[in-house]
Amino acid sequence: MERTFVAIKPDGVQRGLIGKIITRIEEKGLKITGLKMLSVSKEQAEKHYKEHEGKSFYNDLIKYITSSPIIAMVVEGENVVKTVRQLMGKTNPSDAEIGTIRGDYSAEMSFNTIHGSDSIESAEREIKIYFTEEEICSNWKTMYEIIKSKL
Ligand code: RTP
Ligand code: MG
Repeated sequence: MERTFVAIKPDGVQRGLIGKIITRIEEKGLKITGLKMLSVSKEQAEKHYKEHEGKSFYNDLIKYITSSPIIAMVVEGENVVKTVRQLMGKTNPSDAEIGTIRGDYSAEMSFNTIHGSDSIESAEREIKIYFTEEEICSNWKTMYEIIKSKL
């Protein structure tokens, strides 16, 4: 099954949005198979955001993501990378549609509350930065999977 890496960024944790954001992911019908709170190290942040190295916002992005804990998740489902990006909304919260997570909960580009991988390749690369395979629990069935197995 396709996997993606999702993080509730420091502002989401600090503003008490963990439950609401996890609920959105669960209510959509996606399967959370990895979940933990952690303080991102400088090394992890630099690996994660390697594609942005040298850009004007890079240093602030690294400072921010390492400033306070995040909730890291592995999420599974059909086309999950695209589905989570749709749930998140556009990068700049002022462009993000109301009804998306960023559209509803974020007001600034630098504090846009949630991260989701932008491709299957990015997802597999990012999952490795934050999780060992042993920490990912795919060996249970969602209600959808149970229903499908009975058809
Ligand atoms: P993310 O990786 O955090 O999920 O966000 P994204 O794919 O929607 O956006 P991306 O282009 O990967 O940018 C990573 C994060 O850097 C900040 N950013 N600031 N000031 C700027 O022009 C600018 N551009 C990007 C945002 O916080 C963005 O989420
Ligand atoms: Mg990105």
